[in-house]
Amino acid sequence: MEKIIINGSNPLYGSVEISGAKNAAVAIIPAAVMCGFGKCVIDNIPDIEDVNKLVRILRDLGARVTRIKNTLIVDSSNIKSYIANGEDVHNMRASYYLIGALLARFKKAVVDLPGGCSIGDRPIDQHIKGLEKLGVNIKIQHGSVVAEADKLVGDSIFFDVVSVGATINVMLAACFAEGVTILENVAKEPHVVDVANFLNLMGANIKGAGTDIIKITGVKKLKGCNYSIIPDQIEASTYMMAVAACKGEVLIKNIIPKHLESVTAKLIEMGVTICEYDDSIKIKSNERLRGVNIKTSPYPGFPTDVQQIIGVLMSVSQGTSIISESIFENRFKYFDELKKMGVDVKIEGRAAIINGVSRLTGCKLKATDLRAGAAMIIAGLVAEGETEITSIEHIDRGYPDIEEKFRQLGANIYRTLNSDIKEFKNII
Ligand code: EPZ
Repeated sequence: MEKIIINGSNPLYGSVEISGAKNAAVAIIPAAVMCGFGKCVIDNIPDIEDVNKLVRILRDLGARVTRIKNTLIVDSSNIKSYIANGEDVHNMRASYYLIGALLARFKKAVVDLPGGCSIGDRPIDQHIKGLEKLGVNIKIQHGSVVAEADKLVGDSIFFDVVSVGATINVMLAACFAEGVTILENVAKEPHVVDVANFLNLMGANIKGAGTDIIKITGVKKLKGCNYSIIPDQIEASTYMMAVAACKGEVLIKNIIPKHLESVTAKLIEMGVTICEYDDSIKIKSNERLRGVNIKTSPYPGFPTDVQQIIGVLMSVSQGTSIISESIFENRFKYFDELKKMGVDVKIEGRAAIINGVSRLTGCKLKATDLRAGAAMIIAGLVAEGETEITSIEHIDRGYPDIEEKFRQLGANIYRTLNSDIKEFKNII
């Protein structure tokens, strides 16, 4: 099993290129299944494990998927199957977008229940509520979602909870529904808008994505298109937080600064210097940071996906900081690992009270989920001495070339195979 080894305390200097957004890519690739005519050429695809899984799933469905560097060419015209199952499907969260996409295409879908980061219960009741309103019969059987509809008919849906997944999934299914579908209390994340833009380029009729109300007027078919995915605002936030923690000066390139406003504002509050340009941000940090409080909330609020990462920053900042995690009920597990490095934190329900310490010390850590793994890397970069991180497959799900990108900024970080494989190499 691979590990990441870090020798911390180096400041970070230089520039880093942000890749395509994971949470946009893992929705747009399944959406390409809805296109029965022509090819979808999708650029700025991030080189991450969740994309690799979706490429395998689409090929299993019968799509022709060609990959040329960061571009995917998807031809779904010959897809005949509406059944998606197996390891790849239940080893990721975003496989549930295949439910909406296959229902739109075939009015049938049999998709294994999704997996994903263990950060809470993560139900799909809002997905089911929305799809049933469109006339879909859904049941959970033998670990799969079994869905079918005689026809999809537009309706008005008010989500009980703001859900990225449910918003996108029902939007996919509604593209071919007869008449008009109105979605309210929807997610407004940049990746929701990105999926709507992709669908509209294929010929869908979606208005209002990114606002409180999305209106979808059903169409008969979708055709191929050329599209480029937005940059990943969570990956960008991760590198910004790393610079803030380690000190130094870095240009974060290929981003949309507006997508990062809540993160930028919080970093400035902590004492970091930030200059925004059209598609990049320069971040400079040379003083010990001030502690702050955050409350995670749906976009444009502070993103829950950056909560674990800013938790590391707070651990070495002056004073006491408080995190209120309002989205997921179990997203503080990473602190169990970070306490081994000297982090002083107390968890009270959905709040974490962090007393900043002057230094962390390196040790052996186990990544518990994607963003926790990224947080542990930053903790290792800040800490004195060596940090070893295992279970890094979590990190590879969402961060392309993470150790290479950090090495280019001056970090002492590398990936290694574990000893028994090395011993095996010594034998042969
Ligand atoms: C998406 O997960 C992202 N994943 C998550 O990113 C992100 O943390 C989350 O949105 C919130 O922004 C992908 O896009 C693949 P939700 P999703 O539905 O869709 C509750 C990462 O690190 N809920 O917006 O699963 C749910 O329990 C990952 O990149 C219901 O109650 O999140 C949660 O409390 C981690 N019923 C809240 O809504 C439902 O049917 C938000 O969940 C659906 C959700």
